[in-house]
Amino acid sequence: MAGRIPRNFIDDLLNRVDIVEVIDSRLPLKKKGREFWACCPFHGEKTPSFSVSPSKQFYHCFGCQKSGNAVGFLMDYDHMEFVEAIESLASSLGMEVPYEQGSAPAKPAQQTLEPMFQLMQQCSDFYQAQLKGSGEAIEYLKNRGIGGRTAKAFGIGYAPPGWSNLRGDEKLLVDSGMSIKKDDGKQYDRFRHRLMFPIRDRRGRCIAFGGRVIDPGDNPKYLNSPESPLFHKSDEIYGLYELKQAVANIERIYITEGYMDVIALYESGIKTAIATLGTAINSYQIESLFRVCKNLVFCFDGDRAGKSAAWKALESCLKSLSEGRTARFMFMPEEHDPDTYIKEIGSGAFSENAVKATTVTDYLFDELLASTNIASREERDQFIEKLKPYLEQLPLQTMKDSMIAEAEKRVKVQIDPRTLKSLGAGGSDPSFRKAMPEQHWTPTRLAINLLLKKPALAKGSGAHHELADSDIPGIDLLLKILDRIHDEPEISTQNLLDRFRGDEHESHLYKLAMMEPPVENDESLERMFADSLQNLQKQYIVHRRQQLISKLQAGEGLSEAEKREHRKLFTNQT
Ligand code: UTP
Ligand code: MN
Repeated sequence: MAGRIPRNFIDDLLNRVDIVEVIDSRLPLKKKGREFWACCPFHGEKTPSFSVSPSKQFYHCFGCQKSGNAVGFLMDYDHMEFVEAIESLASSLGMEVPYEQGSAPAKPAQQTLEPMFQLMQQCSDFYQAQLKGSGEAIEYLKNRGIGGRTAKAFGIGYAPPGWSNLRGDEKLLVDSGMSIKKDDGKQYDRFRHRLMFPIRDRRGRCIAFGGRVIDPGDNPKYLNSPESPLFHKSDEIYGLYELKQAVANIERIYITEGYMDVIALYESGIKTAIATLGTAINSYQIESLFRVCKNLVFCFDGDRAGKSAAWKALESCLKSLSEGRTARFMFMPEEHDPDTYIKEIGSGAFSENAVKATTVTDYLFDELLASTNIASREERDQFIEKLKPYLEQLPLQTMKDSMIAEAEKRVKVQIDPRTLKSLGAGGSDPSFRKAMPEQHWTPTRLAINLLLKKPALAKGSGAHHELADSDIPGIDLLLKILDRIHDEPEISTQNLLDRFRGDEHESHLYKLAMMEPPVENDESLERMFADSLQNLQKQYIVHRRQQLISKLQAGEGLSEAEKREHRKLFTNQT
């Protein structure tokens, strides 16, 4: 795999890319001290121990110990192959990846799906082109108040009537769900005479469609692509890509139930709405949304189905309610959905309502207490029992405690200590535990850390290969790093770290790079580095003296070289 993309290109890329931006766009980061922090996306946790260093351009999790640079992050987080991650970063920087002569680009796993992605894009282009020529479809959009710009942002198209308008590889058409194969082997287009909504993945690639009837008499109202290698309905979030394209600072995400709700809100100026695809929102989708924005507003249709969807959403969101995240529930008046409601009251009033919509706590208590007579002790106890499983899911002690306080307020009776304990009350707020582990400095660790901070420190220091004979822990790694820098004296931190990609020492190296020595300026960096090398030298001398003495004590003779060394070691006053 290595060698296909020239080394110097990867270096250049790593020097230009900003890992904070790369990660923050996927996993919102919070600045704290010199580093940026988040809850680690690679293991479950409630307090952030995942750190991103802007100066050293890598991430490290103090919990699960995962670490790496921007390329590694994309590989792990977006499940990309190495080449794909490089391609993705390069394209975000407007760089073109050169491949070395005589070697084709390595095939990322995704690439096998490439023809299907292409086919879907071709279908989408076709439908969009068809829309331009369809008076009927344009009229329909107009009647629903959707302007050209919004239609374009969502790639809305039109599937004309007729059974075989789509062109392309027949098997791909069937596998992608665009065509349906009959028993007699013939196949026909799935979507006919419908308004077409492309469903895009997080990178903007078309992976499926929703098609709406234009004639009110036709059935079903919406036809959706079936599950396919590209499309897994319960993972996808309609409108998320479009939202990210349209808005840089996302203050709030509106979760709606339908395509048209997302589009109508967008048209009205609220460009941060998304929808699930005819299914109840699940906890995976909620967690993904919270990673994009910490304030979610669930908007539900004012019908029975809306009510039951809301309760499911509440149940699915509790465990994601970590520090700083809020969820609110907004119920449309009867007979309304967000699309019709915003047309009635306007976007200003709609967002005002969203800001003061029902909180998780209120919604939970309103529902659980709906049929409870709080004057009855028995019913109060039942209520507390019902509350328990919900409280258990909350990741924050502060929120648990405030919910328990709210429960007492609502039932107007203090809960006894034993019950309190069983509800998980008390305990202090662990909100921002100090994520740095105990820093235990040794001269080797310090030297490596300083070299990673500022590789140029190695310039004046010798190779110190003699230290290899000592048994000082970590010395081999230090010497390897020194050699690296001596080979490439101008190497940057991120490139130096990248030289150890796949090396047995890689994760150890990131851990060391993460440690913060108390240094104020460059001058003290240099002094500290010189001191650490001197300390190693001393350790080495002590070690060698010991070795030679043991040899002599064991009655083994010394070689000529050892005799010279022995003389030197014991005259050298260190
Ligand atoms: P709605 O009927 O609320 O859709 O169904 P909508 O977006 O408000 O549609 P309009 O305003 O009548 O055009 C909500 C969602 O349920 C799925 C679709 O994803 C739809 O957006 N659905 C609905 C289907 O998949 N099939 C259907 O027949 C109906
Ligand atoms: Mn609707």
